[in-house]
Amino acid sequence: MTRNGETVKWITARRRHPLAGYAVVILALALFGVGFAALAPTSDEARAQTLSAEAPSPEDVDVANGKAIFDQTCASCHNYDGSGTFAEDEDGNREMTNGPDLREVGPASVDFQVSTGRMPSMDPDNQMPRRDMVMSEQDLADLIAYYNESIRTDDAGAEIPYDVPGTPPERADFEDEESYETALEDYETEYDAYIEGAEDVDMGMKLYLTNCAHCHSWSGGGGALTDGRWAPELHDSTPREIYEAMVSGPGAMPMFSDGVITPEEKQELISYVKTLQAEPNAGGFFDLERVGQVAEGFIGWTIGLSLIIACAIWITAKQRAHD
Ligand code: HEC
Ligand code: HEC
Repeated sequence: MTRNGETVKWITARRRHPLAGYAVVILALALFGVGFAALAPTSDEARAQTLSAEAPSPEDVDVANGKAIFDQTCASCHNYDGSGTFAEDEDGNREMTNGPDLREVGPASVDFQVSTGRMPSMDPDNQMPRRDMVMSEQDLADLIAYYNESIRTDDAGAEIPYDVPGTPPERADFEDEESYETALEDYETEYDAYIEGAEDVDMGMKLYLTNCAHCHSWSGGGGALTDGRWAPELHDSTPREIYEAMVSGPGAMPMFSDGVITPEEKQELISYVKTLQAEPNAGGFFDLERVGQVAEGFIGWTIGLSLIIACAIWITAKQRAHD
């Protein structure tokens, strides 16, 4: 007898088994679930972004536009020369009123604060949450050029790590589909090379657990600090933003300069932080914002499964009562 014949016989013999019905239903649902996961929509509505693997060349930036942006959206709190806004209290001590001195913070700090939507601040008395960036990538590049030319001191803090992948490109910044697709592929290659090029992700995990987990939690989900401040979740941060957070020490976060955690160790650490962002399809950066959808799909699937199994039990029970 052929193998197929045997299989049929095997199935026939077991079809009447009391559990056969459930087995078929569960198998069908499992297949349906897998199909659903494969079809689940991907979130490609990323924020306004362009690819910038290296510092923009002087022809590509408009310093005058950068100055206009600074004067209009930053100077009210940081002053026109970036020296901050201060007032003297009764004892003659200088106290910050709206915003701190930016001359020594360095361009990585400006890039971090603006690209994560923290700046321009809406409320100088409170920590700002992460938001969509309020300006275009081009405006940010212009603003940074102006900062470097007219505001910063020579020995200001960290430079922008252009070799670390920043925000992925966004369709709206490209004239045609083809150039967008090309930029996207370039970005993905650069991103994978950086994340997968990390030498020792175990070391990354150790660095994370020793230096970051007590504030951001072991899962990267964030946590509350004192005085109404909090360490945010890290799942939406790009590799460059994670790097810049370390070298600039925003708000209540300490600074981890390249002398304390070397650039290689930062790469390992960032690679580890990226593995914390559960990526069921391991499809790269688009999955960062997909955790929610997958969770929803899974919950829907589980509820549906339970209902259908309940029906199946009910139907077979009724049938058995008839037999
Ligand atoms: C409404 C006031 C306000 C506006 C407008 C504002 N900032 Fe700020 N900025 C602040 C305050 C307050 C802080 C300190 C935040 C903290 O420590 O949590 C800050 C912090 C910063 C820092 C980090 C400084 C440090 O010491 O780490 C940078 C960089 C920065 N702002 C850049 C900008 C830029 C660029 C703009 C314009 C696009 C801008 N800010 C607009 C109030 C403002
Ligand atoms: C003392 C607590 C503390 C420690 C330790 C700490 N952070 Fe933070 N972190 C913060 C706070 C607070 C903020 C928000 C700052 C603000 O908005 O002003 C922050 C913000 C960030 C952000 C920005 C997240 C986003 O997407 O907006 C990143 C990325 C980050 N931290 C990474 C790290 C890494 C990596 C380490 C370890 C090397 C670390 N942090 C250690 C408190 C901490």
